Amino acid sequence: MSIVAANPPFVVTTEREARLRVLEWQAERQTVALVPTMGNLHAGHISLVEKVQQLADRVVCSIFVNPTQFGPGEDFEAYPRTLPEDERKLAGLGIDLVFAPTVKEIYPFGDERPVTVTVPGLTEDLCGASRPGHFTGVATVVCRLLNIIRPDFAVFGEKDYQQLLVLSRMVEDLRLPVEVIRAPIVRDADGLALSSRNRYLTAEQRLVAPTLNRTLWTLVEAIQAGRTDYAALEAEGWSALEAAGFRPDYLEIRTAADIKRPVVALPPEQLIVLAAAWLGETRLLDNVQVAD
Ligand code: PAF
Repeated sequence: MSIVAANPPFVVTTEREARLRVLEWQAERQTVALVPTMGNLHAGHISLVEKVQQLADRVVCSIFVNPTQFGPGEDFEAYPRTLPEDERKLAGLGIDLVFAPTVKEIYPFGDERPVTVTVPGLTEDLCGASRPGHFTGVATVVCRLLNIIRPDFAVFGEKDYQQLLVLSRMVEDLRLPVEVIRAPIVRDADGLALSSRNRYLTAEQRLVAPTLNRTLWTLVEAIQAGRTDYAALEAEGWSALEAAGFRPDYLEIRTAADIKRPVVALPPEQLIVLAAAWLGETRLLDNVQVAD
């Protein structure tokens, strides 16, 4: 019998168990990295784990579908929960600890009106505009996870670029004693950025989905070729997405450092092109840094 399949000893569900385990490592002066996830792990998550395995002595992966980052009518209930499969994948990677808490464990006073962390300035537009409260939910849960695990490193993927900036700002502004590590987007061979939500796509939509990345690249190449008429480029990209069958939510050329609208022509390497677009019921997210 595999140790992992029955009742994986490396999975804990309570703050107390997680703290005790991490404290043991820290007493031996081992460094710890946290990979926060909502589970349903794919190659993108695996790349986060592998990245911090090179940095830290111990790696903890949290799996928690955080209710406070989902708005009313969003897919909180439907979000894929695949804990046994995730645990098997993590065991295969030789991860040191999986922290899979309940909602009550993370929000002991309830998740209706928890103490929250808001990050003004970076959260009002792009994904924040169509998902009000989303980033407060994300910052609130990540702050709790960091306080529970107290890792030296925490890793976040560049696919959720705005989230990465929001969490980096939270850590910097609140002086949380952790180093934020960023990891590049992992894509399918046809360019589609990996996401747990890709599984909502029909076979037909899956064929269309890589057009999102191709459209971003069209804009990136135009910027690299010297175009600085950003609004016109955005409009062209928007039309291309609509023609392919998307309902774009946003498609924007922004500064890579702080996702501000460029008000003057900037060197290409300072820019990033970001988009969110609906394909049927699925909202896809992608970005390409022009320096790429
Ligand atoms: O990117 C995610 O999966 C989530 O937003 C995170 C960072 C795990 C917080 O719930």
